[in-house]
Amino acid sequence: MATGTSLSAVFPLGSRLNERGVLEIGGCDAIELARTFGTPAYVVAEDDLTARARAFTGAARQLHPDMQVVYASKAFPCTAVLALFAREGLWCDAASGGELHLALAAGFAPERIVLHGNAKSEAELRMALRHRVGLIVLDNFDEIDRLSGLIAEGDGGDRGAGGQPVLVRVNPDVRGETHEKISTGQADSKFGFSMDQAGEAIERVRAAAGLSLEGLHAHIGSQLLELEPFRRACRQLAALGEFPVLDIGGGLGVSYLEGQPAPPSAEEYLTAIVAALDRPGGRLLVEPGRSLTANAGVTLYTVESVKQNVSRWVAVDGGMSDNLRPMLYGAGYEAHVADRFGGATECVLAGKHCESGDVIVRDALLDDPRPGDVIVTPATGAYGFAMANNYNGVPRPPVVFCAEGRAREVVRRESFEDLTARDQPAPVQHDAQGGG
Ligand SMILES: Cc1ncc(COP(=O)(O)O)c(C=O)c1O
Repeated sequence: MATGTSLSAVFPLGSRLNERGVLEIGGCDAIELARTFGTPAYVVAEDDLTARARAFTGAARQLHPDMQVVYASKAFPCTAVLALFAREGLWCDAASGGELHLALAAGFAPERIVLHGNAKSEAELRMALRHRVGLIVLDNFDEIDRLSGLIAEGDGGDRGAGGQPVLVRVNPDVRGETHEKISTGQADSKFGFSMDQAGEAIERVRAAAGLSLEGLHAHIGSQLLELEPFRRACRQLAALGEFPVLDIGGGLGVSYLEGQPAPPSAEEYLTAIVAALDRPGGRLLVEPGRSLTANAGVTLYTVESVKQNVSRWVAVDGGMSDNLRPMLYGAGYEAHVADRFGGATECVLAGKHCESGDVIVRDALLDDPRPGDVIVTPATGAYGFAMANNYNGVPRPPVVFCAEGRAREVVRRESFEDLTARDQPAPVQHDAQGGG
């Protein structure tokens, strides 16, 4: 592959192969990054996050007088990422007490936080009330009663006459083209009120003490590459009446593999929504997650072994503990040797975990991979860090931000001590890293 060239849109903006044929992310040499920060490592091009945030906010400003871009923090729930989006003027979608904690820690103003969840606990609702989050999205009848009850007991503090602003989550009965495990808008879904129940939910919220019904919410699923399902969801919400706020969720898809059809741009996506709602007034919210972060990040691994057992198995030092998506729903990724792009050896890129299903890329084409090679998988900036785990006692990787040739660790690698930090009683101390 030609050197000194930029790479496909699957990679972060500005990525290229330098004169020596080595991948550069945010101006940083991938082999140097692997040497400095170790592997596996999540590497993020900071400018890419900024550019994507601005693509959304710029289009929103042009298309509607009050359209807010709400970052779905579940995609990459790391305070450095959250703080960058807070500085760019985004709002934040938190789907648990933990995500709310992260959003606050990252500096989001509470009134710009939207609390989601289909099973919010009393503690989470109390926390949201205490911090005076901007909107709580009500998912079910139990929650309407629970939230109203907490406010009646005085948990909401003095919210004035209006009460806690809330949205009602509607399940619009729209099934977009995506994996069933990330489809949420079909009739038989665990999220929200069905179209049949929505009217009653709206009435119950209106009648409930301490709640101020601002509008409706729908989120039909994730990794959607067609705009029509979003239009249908908008029309379903519009059919339920006029409200000051409509939140049509997230779900815009991204490219994971070179040569895949490009997803709609942020502008095309927002244009479709604004046109389908045909509603110049009021406030519109959109909640992109994946489309803000997925292509901003890559993962670096080191090859530990190569063997020929029918297939050519290339085993690396990470796997399902840092990227669960291939195992959860067969998500496809590319892989490359970071300093020898363009190989033709058919390989199975496997992780280090004790499951045969721990395969990161089933059909990788690599350039004669050898132990010690640094492997890169692009488009791992969404739902990778978020779903990372400690299977097999593997410490979770660091997050490294790169910009203009400078790299900085924004989340350090977990240590072996971290693995026992919650144990009670505290374990015997020993030289954990040295295994002594
Ligand atoms: C309520 C809600 N909003 C937004 C999102 C973000 O979706 P995506 O990352 O596909 O944009 C999700 C994802 O699960 C969600 O549940």
